[in-house]
Formats: sequence, C-alpha cells, structure tokens
Amino acid sequence: MIIDGKKLSGELIEEIKKEVLNLKKDGKLIGLSVILIGEYPPSLIYVKNKEKRAKEAGINSEIIKYSADITENEVLSKIKELNKNREVSGILVQLPLPNHINKEKIINAIDPLKDVDGFHPINVGNLASGNSSIVPCTPLGCLHLIKSVETNLSGKHAVILGRSNLNGKPMAQLLLKENCTVTIAHSKTIDLKSECKKADILVAAVGAKELVKGDWIKKGAIVIDVGINKINDKIVGDVEFNATKELAKAITPVPGGVGPMTIACLLKNTLECFKKTNL
Ligand code: GUN
Repeated sequence: MIIDGKKLSGELIEEIKKEVLNLKKDGKLIGLSVILIGEYPPSLIYVKNKEKRAKEAGINSEIIKYSADITENEVLSKIKELNKNREVSGILVQLPLPNHINKEKIINAIDPLKDVDGFHPINVGNLASGNSSIVPCTPLGCLHLIKSVETNLSGKHAVILGRSNLNGKPMAQLLLKENCTVTIAHSKTIDLKSECKKADILVAAVGAKELVKGDWIKKGAIVIDVGINKINDKIVGDVEFNATKELAKAITPVPGGVGPMTIACLLKNTLECFKKTNL
C-alpha cells in the first residue's frame, strides 16, 4: 500500500477550512506570519507552498521577507511586534537561518502560544512531559500518516532514523505516547541495518539519498520517508522506494507523502494557536 499524503492532507485541509470559515462568520480572523531570511532555494519553495495552502484554507498568511544580512535585533523586534499583534495567531521563522543569527534566541523570542512550529522550549518540554502542547508539524504529519494505516500502535517497535529537534526527537515523543517501543538511530549508530530490520514502524529523517535499502525492512512494516533529496533533477527520499515497497505493508512516496501532510499540520497548528489565544 502506498500512503497517499496528498489525498490525506487534502482531507485535513478541508476540515480546517470548514472550521476557519465558521470562525470567519463570527468575525474571527486567523493569521499566520512566516519570516523568511535570505534566499536558500528549498526555503523559498517551502514558504511559498505554506502560503498557498494557508490561503486555500482561508487563513490570512503573510511572508515577511528579509535579506540575509538583516541583523538579529531587527528580527527579534519583528517577532516582539508579531507576538503583540492580535491578528497574528501563528508565527513561523523558516530555518535554516544565516550564521550570524542565533537560532535559539529567535525561537525563544516567539510567544509559545503562537509557536506553530512547536520549537519553543515550553512546547518541547510539554511534549516531553506528555502534556498538551503544540507539536512540530513534520512528526505530527508522520503520525497522522502512520495512523491512516493502523490506529493502535501499542507495543509496536518504532525505529526513527535521525535525532533532530525538527523531526527525530519529537517523533520519538509522539510514538512513546502511542505506547510504542522506540529506538532513535543516527549517524553514530553502529549497525543501522540491523536496527531498521527490527522496526514495525520505520521513520527515516536523515536527509541521505536512498540510505535505507530493501533488505533493511521487516516484512509488513510501515515506512515513513521524511527525506527530500535531489539526484540530478529527480527528488528521492531517504528510502529506496522500489526495493522497499515490496516488503513494507505501507510506505510514503517522495514527493507526495510527508511533505503535503507537514503543511496541513502547520495549518492545524495555526488553528490550534488561534484557539489558545482567542477562544
Ligand atoms: N525548515 C525545514 N523544515 C522546517 C519547519 O518545519 N519549520 C521551520 N520553521 N523551518 C523549517
């Protein structure tokens, strides 16, 4: 089975759109402000897609674009202004940032109630504690995709490749909450193949072209491929798709798997943030 991220994200966006339209009828406005610094090509594409989908769902989306030489203080003042602006429900600062801007300072400046990325330490801590929190969009989307195949994940062995704050670590927290046994493997793991072979659920988020081979997969596994890598002009994931799809019970394609779901979850988080500050 190939997990259709486009279709599933479309369904989620439709649900969000309905809720946004109902809120609009009551005169409520939901706004998402995205700060984009510099000209990193993948970020330009991601941000444009985020804006397009937000508009489709009836969310007021603005992109605040700065050149790569903007000072850290200027960005911090903008974030303070957005924190106070009642028309802004969600704030996202697209990563990566130029080297002279301290990522930690920027993330910490965002009001945790408007932190649609779920990167603020308050949200990270709440997720780790099992409390309610804003959850980073990519792992939230991955969980949605996994649950489209199987709703009860209790006791499953989940293996996550990658330990980033964006994906690997929050993915582990989410799967722990689902009562999975969770392994996080990474670039220093001694034998990645044997770890992967134990996985009932495998989430690959390392950014390494087709690293996971067909014979790394346990028969019947659910495979979620977060990677977006370029081979010449072709986009491929972290998993060798053709070799893997024979053994896996379900697998996400790249593109058309995790990517669209991440954006749908961003819109969901924007709506959640609106509710936290306005209802
Ligand atoms: N860069 C790549 N993915 C993301 C994301 O999910 N959020 C932000 N802010 N930047 C990113």
